[in-house]
Amino acid sequence: MSLLKLEKSELDDLATQVRKEYEDLKAKGLNLDLTRGKPSKVQLDLSNDLLTLPGLGNYTDAAGNDLRNYGNSKGIKELRELWGKLTNMDPELLIAADSSSLNIMFDLISWAYTFGTNDSERPWAQEETVKWICPTPGYDRHFAITETFGFELIQVPMLEDGPDVDAVAELVKDPQVKGMWVVPMFANPTGAVISEEKARRLASMEAAAPDFRIVWDNAYAVHTLTEDFPEILPILEIAKQEGHPNRFWAMSSTSKITFAGAGVSFFGTSAANLEWYLQYSGKRGIGPNKINQLAHYEFFGSAEGVRAVMRRHSALLAPKFKAVLRILDKRLSQYDVAQWTKPEGGYFISLDVVDGTATRVWELARDAGILLTKAGSAYPHGKDDNDRNIRLAPSLPPQEEVEAAMDGVATCVLLAALEKLGA
Ligand SMILES: Cc1ncc(COP(=O)(O)O)c(C=O)c1O
Repeated sequence: MSLLKLEKSELDDLATQVRKEYEDLKAKGLNLDLTRGKPSKVQLDLSNDLLTLPGLGNYTDAAGNDLRNYGNSKGIKELRELWGKLTNMDPELLIAADSSSLNIMFDLISWAYTFGTNDSERPWAQEETVKWICPTPGYDRHFAITETFGFELIQVPMLEDGPDVDAVAELVKDPQVKGMWVVPMFANPTGAVISEEKARRLASMEAAAPDFRIVWDNAYAVHTLTEDFPEILPILEIAKQEGHPNRFWAMSSTSKITFAGAGVSFFGTSAANLEWYLQYSGKRGIGPNKINQLAHYEFFGSAEGVRAVMRRHSALLAPKFKAVLRILDKRLSQYDVAQWTKPEGGYFISLDVVDGTATRVWELARDAGILLTKAGSAYPHGKDDNDRNIRLAPSLPPQEEVEAAMDGVATCVLLAALEKLGA
């Protein structure tokens, strides 16, 4: 029963019914929040043992260094080795840093802007314009970093197997295009996982700018919602094989594995890029929080230990995602008014509603006490030209609240579609 195929009188009847549902929804006085992809309290509790680590009296790394003191700008070796095994990276090219990978991303762009990269002819600040490729829908905080530096943000579609690489290959013929955001696995917000073919294409394509960089933000590398952990592509190796060893700045973090904002972040890149990074990070500080790194090493024990933690997260998260998908399917699929992703990992579901109605859906939901991420937030400058996309983040609220919120959202999607059709 596609809405578009209904007669006017049928549309009006349905609208009467949905308006009544919406009034009933408002009368419930809900106060629900699906805005940000944060771990829930129960998820955070999974890592409470970290608060007792490192074990009493233990403050040295395997090499016997006293971790309570300054130094070691690359982070402790045993944790870098563990993470290298987990993420398919040479630990010599991987550093363990402080608690936020976004901090590293901001630093990289800031330093490229101020000083230029190791491959730059001049600092990016001295370029007439800096253009940056943004697969959309994407992560708002990525876009916010490049907005802050005044870059011109160019959108390319994010497809099911990664960004539209044909579009990217065209764009990088322009020497002012200096970089690109990519979330390679379980992307925010679509859940897409990049194919090896696309990763190789990004690594091999010719870019006019010698200092073109891809921020390879593997924030959700092990954040499965199934039993499986997809292979993590050895992106630094691929970059080398494809002839552009300096192209990728790769990061990840334990933010959604242990404690968000109190974990460890990681940065992997070529030896030349790392040398460039360390010369500035070494001025910014005298080494990372190695005590927290040791605590994480003891907590995980091994790469398999990280996966074991992620299975526990998955057991808590997967039922919420299943509920969202079930409710969307039951309430909306018959009307042809929305499409949504069915992610196998990550923190989000990307919902596309009838063009021109996403903001209205957001308002209707807000007025019914359901706070959604603002329509357009997954686009540069918060502007979705089609006013179509809404990012759903089911991780934080308890299961019953996720279900109540989604049922309400479905009513709002339907009502906004009916309004658009003049019913
Ligand atoms: C794609 C992506 N990258 C990075 C982050 C934040 O990472 P961190 O906590 O390590 O700064 C998030 C958090 O939502 C994210 O979705």
